[in-house]
Amino acid sequence: MIVCRSAAELERMREAGRLVGEVLTELTARVAPGVTTADLDDLAEERILQAGATPAFKGYHGYPATICASINEEVIHGIPSGRRVLNEGDVISIDVGASLDGYFGDSAVTLAVGQVSEVAATLLRVTDEALYKAIELVRPGGRISDIGHTVQRHVEAYGFSVVREFVGHGIGQRMHEEPQVPNYGEPGRGPRLAEGMVLAIEPMVNAGKPAVKVLADGWTAVTRDGSLSAHFEHTVAVTADGPWILTAREVAVPARR
Ligand code: MF3
Ligand code: CO
Repeated sequence: MIVCRSAAELERMREAGRLVGEVLTELTARVAPGVTTADLDDLAEERILQAGATPAFKGYHGYPATICASINEEVIHGIPSGRRVLNEGDVISIDVGASLDGYFGDSAVTLAVGQVSEVAATLLRVTDEALYKAIELVRPGGRISDIGHTVQRHVEAYGFSVVREFVGHGIGQRMHEEPQVPNYGEPGRGPRLAEGMVLAIEPMVNAGKPAVKVLADGWTAVTRDGSLSAHFEHTVAVTADGPWILTAREVAVPARR
């Protein structure tokens, strides 16, 4: 069953989403050569706890940290570490989830560390564009499968590929709710969107082939061919007036900084 949220619930989800967005903005400002992914994780945890919220990932199926920090060929679920230092030219996906007042927010961005290659910059831009093209489809009567179709069509036009093994999701009083939101597939299928539904839309896009594997740590998903990967995510509500990006930030996070 796909839950539809009342206007009052959406306001509470906006508060959770706003916090997640603020944390991402702070983390973005911290990303630089020499910073470790544990530094970013510590900052995120501190900010979330200060706000009276709870990190959503920590303890989820045993996940050990507040954020996921996935560098270069790491697709998602990279575990922060004090031994993992950011280097000039890296790309890093930072994924943050928090629950506030019983409601969840979930958002991710992929950032360039200093100057990156042209293909890396294009991958980030195109994946971000794919997310926003998908968000435009979030309206009552829309189709879940149109989201995936649009993401796939956009990124494949650049020779990139969409990860199949992981998908977006409904979100609300749990981090993962129905429906699943794939980033690929045929248009015009599956459930119709209705006012009050909330989706975490999260394209994961590889510069090379789509296949991924999970490392021996049981979490980190990497591209099988070692190619770069990017991941952007927003929590978005269906409203009569169109998409409401609950994790929106005051200042857009630039793909290149
Ligand atoms: N944004 C990811 C998701 O929606 C984060 C989950 S990380 C986990 O699935 F550790 F909590 F699994
Ligand atoms: Co998610």
